[in-house]
Parts: sequence; structure tokens; C-alpha cells
Amino acid sequence: MSQQATTAKRDGFSSRFGLIAAAAGSAVGLGNIWKFPYIVGENGGSAFILVYLISILAVGIPVLLAEFIIGRRGQANAVRSFKKIAPNTKWSAIGWMGIISAFMILGFYTVIAGYTIHYFILTITNSFAGMSAAQITDTFNNFSSSSTPIIYTVIFIILSLAILFGGIKDGIEKYTKILMPGLVGIIVLLVIRAITLPGAGEGIQFLLKPDFSELSIKAILDALGHSFFSLSVGMGTMLTYGSYISKKENLTSVTFSIAAADTMIALLAGLAIFPAVFAFGIDPTAGPGLVFITLPNVFLQMPGGVIFGALFFLLLFIAALTSVVSIFEVIIAYVTEELKVNRRKAMGLTTLAVIVISTFCALSQTSDSALVFNGHTLFDWMDLLSANVLLPIGGLLIMIFLGFIMKKSDIKDELQQGSKSIKNTMAYITVTKFVAPVAIAIVFLTGIQALFS
Ligand code: PHE
Repeated sequence: MSQQATTAKRDGFSSRFGLIAAAAGSAVGLGNIWKFPYIVGENGGSAFILVYLISILAVGIPVLLAEFIIGRRGQANAVRSFKKIAPNTKWSAIGWMGIISAFMILGFYTVIAGYTIHYFILTITNSFAGMSAAQITDTFNNFSSSSTPIIYTVIFIILSLAILFGGIKDGIEKYTKILMPGLVGIIVLLVIRAITLPGAGEGIQFLLKPDFSELSIKAILDALGHSFFSLSVGMGTMLTYGSYISKKENLTSVTFSIAAADTMIALLAGLAIFPAVFAFGIDPTAGPGLVFITLPNVFLQMPGGVIFGALFFLLLFIAALTSVVSIFEVIIAYVTEELKVNRRKAMGLTTLAVIVISTFCALSQTSDSALVFNGHTLFDWMDLLSANVLLPIGGLLIMIFLGFIMKKSDIKDELQQGSKSIKNTMAYITVTKFVAPVAIAIVFLTGIQALFS
């Protein structure tokens, strides 16, 4: 690293609210609003929610806290932080895996993120008016299997760059401080609209009435896997953000606030969607098509549907934007610090690479695409390999690193900042350093099977 880079003051979050907005912004994403509601629906409602909460406590939060500790201790990007804490070891490979995961997730995530712009425009211009359910399905299939999504993906990436451009304090923090309260406001409005519809009760019951008979092994694994993706852990995102957290901040309380915010928003998303779906007698188990096929049908029948539909896709857009920005930052921090280029150049290089990958991902969804391997499109591979392989391995290694490699005195030192007592947190780490790796290993081994089925 150049002398200048080592001595220059590191950019960072300037307030606790800004830090929480940015990190919760990373956590709250398509995973909360698009995926969580439909996996809850498929897996038995509130019984599944209970398992999910346990997974968050046993696996998600420990890895999140670990990433914050490692990042703030390392004061550098995901690769260098490990090098600084454990010099002359191979643990920095975790950082490398994180960078590879970041490219893969950006590859497919920005494509879906681009859909939200298209769907926002379709809803606000009332384009679904007069369409039958079949026509709404065709609209989605025709769009997603054409090359049009590439345009929206590129627009989406450019919008994220506008946020990233200002760095941490004057970029990510500044914008997420506005976007996240906006997101909360929109979701609350949508929940009020949904639960006041005649016939909403059935949907609320579907979501909240525990049905343990539906709780399969698959449900438990889904809950564990999702707790991981949803908190943005296992690939250095929170580690990189951790390196920007001020030394005054209490890491334990920040970690719990973020996990609570992430879980609340996921639950609210369920409450915004299912009561409405039931009120109009539409099948709630549409799976991944729930948002882009089922919901336009719902909005078409709902009083004020144009406004509420547009607000919903705006919500999805904001959620995706603040997540994409955080994934980008993993790579940009690495490129700036290691290749010794300025932020603007690092952003340019990273963006070019990401646009190439997402274009291939989008093209792999088109009809007769050659980018299909072993029955899965390139898009699916990026999703499966990152969520089922790289994130669990990353999380497992991060927990082992914190629990068994890092000096206890270093951990204590990080936890003591801004904190009165660290006794409970240390006890929590002592238990979860065994529980979390075992649970993750199980999810990983079963997740791998999905790749070959
Ligand atoms: N947590 C985000 C979501 O729920 C996705 C994400 C994964 C973001 C990994 C950053 C890193 O959509």
C-alpha cells in the first residue's frame, strides 16, 4: 500500500444513525421483500417464522458480529483485514472468496433489481389495465426472456454508482439516511392498505397462525440459509462496512439493531403482501413469481392500486439499491486499497466487470440461450453458487477465524468500545462459535445437493 494510503484518514460513517441506515440498507433487500414472504408461505407460516428467528440468533447474528469485529480491527478491505489480524497465514482467502461472491451476486441481483424499474414504470402508467391474468403472466415471461432487462440493469448500476461516488460519509451514509426511512414509510403504508382490505383476515391468519405440520427439514434448512443471505453475511460486506465504523461505537448493540430491523422489515413485507393476495382470492404459493406476476393482479383489483402498486415497486427498488451499493463497496474498497487507484477509477473498473457479468446473466434467461449449463442458466448458477456454496463457506470460516484464530484480547478490545459490560457478548460468542459452524456445515452440505438435482 502506498504511504499516502496508509496515513490518509480513512473514510467512515459519521453517525450511529447513518451506520445503521447503511448496514440495515444492505441487509434489507430483495431477500426480505421478494423471497421471505414466499418462503414463509411455502413453509407453514408462523412456525417457519419461529425457526427463522432461532436461525438469526444462532447463526446470522454471530456471523454479523464477527464481521464487524474483524473489519473494525483490520481497518481495511476484506482481504487486507485478515492479513493484518493474522499475518503470514492463508486466512485472507476468506476475503478473496468474498470478492468472487460479490461479483457473482451482483451478476444476478442487478438483473432483478432492473426489473423493479420496469415494473415501477408499468404500474405507474397503469399499463396492466384491462389485462387478464394470463396476459399479466405473458408480460412477465416475455420481458424476462428478452434482452430488454439489460437496459434496466445498466440504468440500475448507474444509479448505484451515483451513490457510491461520494464514498462512505458523503455517499452511502448520506443517501441511505434518506432512503431507509422512506422505505419504512412506504412499507407501513402498504401494510395499512393491505390489512384494511375486506377479507384480509385470512391472509393475516395464513401468515401468523402456526402450523407445525408443514415444518419439514427443508423448511429448517431454508430458514438457516435465508438468515444468512438476509443479513448480508458470509462474503465481507459487513466486514467492509465494519472497517468504516467509528471506534466509539458499541458493536454488539449495533449488530442487534440491524438484525432486528432486517427481521421487522421482512415480517412487514409479508403483512403487506398476503392479506392483499387472500383478499382477492389469488393463490399465495406462486413462489418466485409472487412479486412480478401475482402482485400486478392484486394491484389491478385493489382500490388505489396504481398508487399502491407503484409504491410497492419503488419499495423493492430502494431495498435492492441499498443492498447493491454495499456489495459494490466490497470490491471498490479492495481495488482502491490494493491496486492503489483512486475511487473513481476503482468504480469504473468494477462497473465494467459487473456490467459484463450481468449482461451474460440476463442473456442466459432469454429463450434458446446457449448460456445454460447442466440444466441451470448462468443466472441460476450465480445465485446457487453464491448463496448455497460461497456464503456458507465464508460464514463458516469467519466464525472459525473469530472463535479459534483471533486473539481473545483483540476481540475484547473491539467489544469494549462504547460498551459497559461485555460479559454477555463473550458468553454468546463462546456458545455460537461451536453452534454456528455446525449449523452452517449442515446447510452447506444439503445446499450442495440442490446444485446437482
Ligand atoms: N441481504 C440482501 C437481501 O436480503 C442481499 C445481500 C447479500 C446483500 C449479501 C449483500 C450481501 O436482499
